[in-house]
Order: sequence, then C-alpha cells, then structure tokens
Amino acid sequence: MTNNKKLLDWVNEWASVCQPDNVYWCDGSEEENQRLLDEMVASGAAIKLNEKKRPGSYAFNSDPSDVARVENRTFICTEKKEDAGPTNNWKAPAEMKAEMLESYKGCMKGRTMYVIPFSMGPLGSNIAKIGVEISDSAYVVVNMRIMTRMGKAVLDVLGDDDFIPCIHSVGSPLEPGQQDLRWPCASNIDDKYISHFPETNEIWSFGSGYGGNALLGKKCLALRIASTMAKREGWLAEHMLIMGITNPQGAKKYIAAAFPSACGKTNLAMLIPTIPGYTVETVGDDIAWMKFDNEGVLRAINPEAGFFGVAPMTSVETNPNALHSADKNTIFTNVGVTPDGDVWWEGIGYDCPAGTINWKNKLHDPASGELAAHPNARFTAPASQCPCVDPAWEDPAGVPISAILFGGRRPTTVPLVYQAFDWNHGTFMGSIVGSEVTAAAIGLKAGVRRDPFAMLPFMGYNMGDYFGHWVSIGENAPDKSKLPMIFNVNWFRKSSDGKWLWPGYGENIRVLGWIIDRVLGNVDAIETPIGLIPKKEDINIEGLAGQAELMDDLLAVDKSLWMDECELIAEHQAQFGSSLPAEMKEQFENLKSRLA
Ligand code: GTP
Ligand code: SPV
Ligand code: MN
Repeated sequence: MTNNKKLLDWVNEWASVCQPDNVYWCDGSEEENQRLLDEMVASGAAIKLNEKKRPGSYAFNSDPSDVARVENRTFICTEKKEDAGPTNNWKAPAEMKAEMLESYKGCMKGRTMYVIPFSMGPLGSNIAKIGVEISDSAYVVVNMRIMTRMGKAVLDVLGDDDFIPCIHSVGSPLEPGQQDLRWPCASNIDDKYISHFPETNEIWSFGSGYGGNALLGKKCLALRIASTMAKREGWLAEHMLIMGITNPQGAKKYIAAAFPSACGKTNLAMLIPTIPGYTVETVGDDIAWMKFDNEGVLRAINPEAGFFGVAPMTSVETNPNALHSADKNTIFTNVGVTPDGDVWWEGIGYDCPAGTINWKNKLHDPASGELAAHPNARFTAPASQCPCVDPAWEDPAGVPISAILFGGRRPTTVPLVYQAFDWNHGTFMGSIVGSEVTAAAIGLKAGVRRDPFAMLPFMGYNMGDYFGHWVSIGENAPDKSKLPMIFNVNWFRKSSDGKWLWPGYGENIRVLGWIIDRVLGNVDAIETPIGLIPKKEDINIEGLAGQAELMDDLLAVDKSLWMDECELIAEHQAQFGSSLPAEMKEQFENLKSRLA
C-alpha cells in the first residue's frame, strides 16, 4: 500500500519487537470495518445492537480497571526535566524507551498488528498532520475510523513524507490456544504507560485500550504532541470546542471554549437554543488548532472527524443533537444494553428497561445502587451525523474565532460569566481555571483542582512556558484589534443548599447571547475586580421561572471568597518558579490590588 521507506522500516522493526501473528495494513474501507466488527461480535468482545433501533452500531464493555485516562501513568519524556514542567510526569527518553521496550517484547503474540494511517485535520489540507498508529486492538481500528480520516487515502497523501509514529499495545499477549479476554489490557496499573517524546514527535502507549489512552490521534497527538509543535511554530493546539452562533439579527460568530474533561464541551458545542431566533452549529467538540490567517484573524480547525462523547446524562432534554449523532454507525463503550438490543444509561431520560445488562456484563439491578453505565461511558460517533454540524466544519481554512471561553465546575466563587479586560488578563484567566474533578480520569482526589486552560492532562511541555506562549500569541498578533475577546463561564455554581443556580444546557444560549453582544459592541458591562460582568438586565432570563431571584447570587463577585481564591492562585503560580511569565505575576498583582 505504500513505498514510504521510513514507514515500512518502522513497521518491520516493531513487528520484530512485538511478534504479532500477522501484520495487517488498514485501508479504512466499509468492508474492512464490517469484517472487524463481525469478528469482535463472534469473539464476544462486541455486542451488535438492534439494527432497527441502532443501525450499524455496537456496544463494548471494558475491563473494570480500564475505564478512563490514567494521568499518573502519562509521561512527557524530554531530555531535560524542566522542559516537561512541574505538572507532568517525566522520565528521560532513553530510560523510558528501555523500560517500555521490555514490555513491548512479544506483547502482540497471538494477535494481529494493525497498521492504522490517519490524518488529523481534513485529508490533504496543509494544516493536517499525518500519524500512523500501530495497534493490536481491532476496537482501536474501528474507533480510529470514526474519530479520524483513516486508511489508504492517507497513505496516498503521505507519499514519501514524514509522519508521526504512534505505537499502541493492550499489553496482553496470548499463548497458543489461550482464550482471549473480552477486553484485554494490562491488569496492573503500573504496567500501563502513555508516553510522549515531543522532541522526536513519537507516542508510545502500552497496557490500556480505553479512549485517550489508546486512540492516539486524539489527546496524545492532537494535544500533547501538537501543543509542542504549536509552540515551536507559533500557533495554538487547545482542548476546546468550536461552535458557530447566529443571533436573531442574523450575525454569525464563531467561538472556542476550553472546559476540563466532562465539564460540558460536547453539550455546549451542540446546544439547542431555548431563545427563539438563535442558531447553533458545531465545528468540533473537543480539540481546536488555531492559527492567524493573512488578514490577522485567528482561525480554528477541528482536527477530529468524530465525537468521543460522555454518554451518561445525555438525553432528548439535555442534548438531542449528541443523541442523534449517535443514532447509527456508533460505538458505545461501557453503557447498559437493553433486552431489545438498545443502549441505556443514567440520565437518558426514561426508566431502565427490565433485563438490561450493565457495563460489567451483569443483569442490572437498579435497587442495588450500582450503575448501568460507567460515569465515563462514551459514544464514538461520526461528526457528519450531527444534525447541527456547521457547513464549514471541514473547511481547511478553519473558521474565524471572535471569542474564547474558559470554564470549569465551580460550586462557589466564580460568577456565571465575566470578561477579561484584555488578552493578557484573559491568558491569566485561562491559567487559573479550576474545576471539581470528574470521572474522565482514574484515581483523582475529589475537590477543586487547578486545570489551566483545561490542558493540565494534555500539555506536551512546561505549563509555565505555555502561559508564555499565550502571551506571545497576543504580543505577536498581526492585528491586535482582531484578537478574540476572552471570557470565563461557570454553569455549575450552587446555592448554599447545594442546588444549581443556573439551569445550564440549552439555556446557556442566554449567556452566549450576551457574549455575542459584547463581541458586536451592543452592550456595556460592569467593571469588577475580577473582570467585566453583565448588567443583570442584559442576560435574557425571560421564561425561566424563579431565575430572577438567583441572578444576584449567580453574578456575585464576593471579595472575601476571591481573597481565599488568591491564596490558591499564589500556591498554583509558585510551582512554576522561573518559568512563570512576568506578565502572569503582574496580572496576579493587579487582581490583588483591585480586590484590596
Ligand atoms: P470530555 O469529552 O471529557 O472532554 O467532556 P466534555 O467537556 O465534552 O463534557 P460533556 O459535554 O460531555 O459533559 C459532561 C457532563 O457535564 C455530562 O454529564 C453533562 O450532562 C454535564 N453538563 C454539560 N453541560 C452542562 C450544563 O450546562 N449544566 C450542568 N449542570 N451540567 C452540564
Ligand atoms: C477527555 O477526557 O477530555 C476526553 C476523553 O475527551 S479521552 O479521549 O479519553 O481523553
Ligand atoms: Mn476532552
């Protein structure tokens, strides 16, 4: 399928290390996809869903130990430790490679080694990056086919050029005659590795078959490796959704938004506005690559081709567009499967049918308190199936970004929305993002943690240098008047009795409406020590019963809570030492003096 010498040599070299029974080059065709799915159904790894209810769709249940990203086993391997920074696990490249090579030896015995050529970004576009993933998981192949542009067409575009090599093994070799597991993976967490070598653009993953650990185009390539390339080349690779919003006057603006994992990107990107006259269209739900164009406009592309979305709580009420994206040709992982071959999860909007099998392959007993779906259960669905996909979602030129949003789950302190005074203040806002932790990663302590730019788990280099990179993007903007405005939002503020102060989901259009009005210069804002907040009357809450009484609490900037916050910010900044840019220290000083 290719004459690319580097690629052929690389595949041969890894075949001799991993010793698979055979090597198979994926062409990305429909026939190949169906054959792999049929094989997995036959082996018991996959369940074919009811063809009438979920055409072309399959359910998989993972091993109960392999349900999310493993942050404490994710490594950035640079020659110098300080280049990985204080927020990443680090090991020197040679040491990591030696250690992992021991694990890779013979790791694919009894299995097929799949060679998966993929493109992040529209095929052939000059901003796309081509990777090749080697994996011993057919589940990875069928997911990569949805999440990326995958197969022979990629090799045709690649020709003799360079690519980003990505090695993946579930780390579970088979002895002759040994019965395979339904979800093979390394049984011990310390045997798992998600390693990145940003200086040589390589990814080595071992031991996990789940999501970002195994679908290496996503977090590994399009964020960790791409963030390092972006630093070198002067652009941005971000954990951001991209969406288009048209207001009742017909003005269309695109925004990008960074929220930590499981904090609402997919939901916001596809929201159905509850205010008549607004339209929302989706470009992407997880990753944005942004660059200035010749006119000095920051433009964003979505490097992915599908959604790997959180299933629980997705319903016709909360996110019909996500639900419909997953109507067909979708892979579900760790959801419940009903007796009639459909899927079910907590928050789907109706009671669990009797006889549902839960994600642990047991009969679901709602009374037991066990969940039918794991909280990090996911659907893998083609973006093209999204009812509100933006007409420009595959435009290689990207879409112009007018506003950038940061946010997280903050039960207190952080108001519903506030705007940065300028680019550096916005960079500071991004650098101090905090959020209550979610189920998207294994083994995190409950409570609020700092997750700068929602990139904490996805940074390919020193986070302090990354703040500096954001500052330099603003400084070197070809036309500063065209820089996006920056906002922070918080859908998750709670009352003292623990209830959401804001209804969220489709109602978030009310906040987006204000943001668009700010972009268009239609409304004034109130200056507070932390930034610009809306005048109460400028957030449309028409038709929201009981909301008016909550608005003061929702928009409150409580100085004493912010003084407490400053102590946490000081601690957070301290860890970066000399890599913390002077501009970020200055922003913090300014904040403190405005609060004083
Ligand atoms: P990743 O795919 O992990 O990066 O997550 P994400 O940021 O795309 O999060 P997603 O949209 O899947 O939402 C995760 C969870 O947050 C789901 O359980 C949603 O129901 C919930 N959620 C999303 N938006 C809102 C909101 O506006 N308000 C409230 N209360 N919950 C929300
Ligand atoms: C996230 O955790 O932010 C995800 C899911 O989008 S995963 O691809 O597993 O990282
Ligand atoms: Mn994500």
